[in-house]
Parts: sequence; structure tokens; C-alpha cells
Amino acid sequence: MNTVKTVRELRAAVARARSEGKQIGLVPTMGNLHSGHAALVTTAAQQADFVVASIFVNPLQFGANEDLDTYPRTLAADQETLLQAGCNLLFAPSDEEMYPNGMTGLTRVTAAQLSNELCGSRRPGHFDGVTTVVSKLFNMVQPDLAIFGQKDYQQLAVIRAMVNDLNIPVQIIGEPTVRAEDGLALSSRNGYLSDEQRQMAPSLYRHLNEIVQAIKAGARDYPELIRHHLALIESEGFRPDYLEIRQAQTLLPATIDDRDVVILVAAFLGSTRLIDNIHLNLEGSF
Ligand code: PAF
Repeated sequence: MNTVKTVRELRAAVARARSEGKQIGLVPTMGNLHSGHAALVTTAAQQADFVVASIFVNPLQFGANEDLDTYPRTLAADQETLLQAGCNLLFAPSDEEMYPNGMTGLTRVTAAQLSNELCGSRRPGHFDGVTTVVSKLFNMVQPDLAIFGQKDYQQLAVIRAMVNDLNIPVQIIGEPTVRAEDGLALSSRNGYLSDEQRQMAPSLYRHLNEIVQAIKAGARDYPELIRHHLALIESEGFRPDYLEIRQAQTLLPATIDDRDVVILVAAFLGSTRLIDNIHLNLEGSF
């Protein structure tokens, strides 16, 4: 696996692969890779002939008081993970390479309206930063397919909307969330948790599962179900940002008539913000 740091080298390597008739898969990441990222690369390697991963901690998607400076940078370990997972080329650019004219006054891609909800309303500008950098990566690599984790459910929806709205010729694949044995969704930010917080963290997934079971068992008062679990989550020591039942495709608030829903949660444990979700398709269930 080669690592390149410039757009010129990236384009040259991808052009070589394409000239050999290879299908190109792209896995955009911010590094500090775990088994969830490895699963993205493995899927890309199954679906494409040449896998490009990118590692770039994108300043454009971090808010002023967020963890841009402390976000873990672990390039050597990441290269090993990517190699083992079947990656062919790593693109690891500097900020200057990605934003040679700086970020002020930059042309940006405004994310679709669904980005203003949920995480977007708590992290203003975040999804515009994501769509801008992802569309730059798409233009640099011009992949046939790109893989994103379902843990970032809203991000995946925002990227799908961008690709549809802007007619970008790339197939977007959502990869199921990889979890620790106790159910905690793997995330680079889990490393911020103290031992005690790490013990508490899987409780979010337990609440999501309990909501799923309640809906499957016939609970139809969604606001009450949410109020009940929000209160429990808070009483356990989390500071919830939101807990919501939404339509799986549009992310609009779900009603009891919706069959395809997603239950999403975001909550702080100390200063660490955790997110998780469960997609629930009730077609044929009631
Ligand atoms: O999910 C992430 O790691 C990032 O938001 C992404 C898609 C790599 C864009 O910077």
C-alpha cells in the first residue's frame, strides 16, 4: 500500500489503476482507525478492485469549541490497519494541500435541508464542512463507489442527498455499525472516555434496543416513549443532546404510520459526545 500526500500523486495513482480497468472504491476517514473503519475498507475491497482510503482531519467540519486540536492523529498505526484490511492507496494530505487558499471565502457545498436537524442543529456548519470535503475527495478520486459507516446515520443521509442533488456519479454504500462486545458503537472518540465512562457508555445502545422492543411490542405513544428513556439516560449521568424516532429516509419526525424508522441518540458523557442509532423496518409487523 502506497501513501501519497498530494492531489497530483493521488490522481496519478488512481489514473494508473483505472487504465488497468480497475473499479475504484473510496473510504474517506479522519484516521485513528478502529475495526469499524477496517470493515469499511474490507467492504470496499469486496466491491471494487482498487481501494483508496483518505485520512484527513477536516478543520472545516469542526466547530470553534470542538476537538479539532485534540483529535487523535495516529498515522503509523492507521497505515497498518489499512494494509491489513486490503487498502491499495492511502491519501493523507495536509491542511494546505486540501485548502491551498485557506478556508475563508472558500467555495462550499451546502448540505441538504435534512442537515439542519439533529446533529446539524447542535453543530452549526458541521455538515457543510462534511459535504464540502467529501465532494472535494470525490472530485480528486472520481471513485465508482464510496463507503460510509451507518453509525453516522445523518451524515450518510446527507451524503446520499448531495450525490443525488448534484448528480455525482458515485455509488454510496452504507456499512453496518461495528460494536464492541458490550454493544458500544466503535468510534474514534471513545478513546476520550475515562474507565468509568467507558463502563457507562453502552447504556445508550441498551436504551435504543429497549425502544425498538417497545415499538415492536406495540408502543405507539412515541413522545412518551422518548420522554421516558430521555429521563433515564439523564438520570444515569449522560447529558443528552437528543433522542428521536425519525423516518429512516427523510429523517423527518416519525409518526406511528411510518414503517421505516430510525431511532437516533446523541449524548455527552463528560465532554465526550457519543452518537448511535438503530434502523427499524416495521414493514409487515403491524
Ligand atoms: O465520518 C468521518 O470520518 C468524516 O466526517 C468524513 C466523512 C471522513 C469527512 O471528513
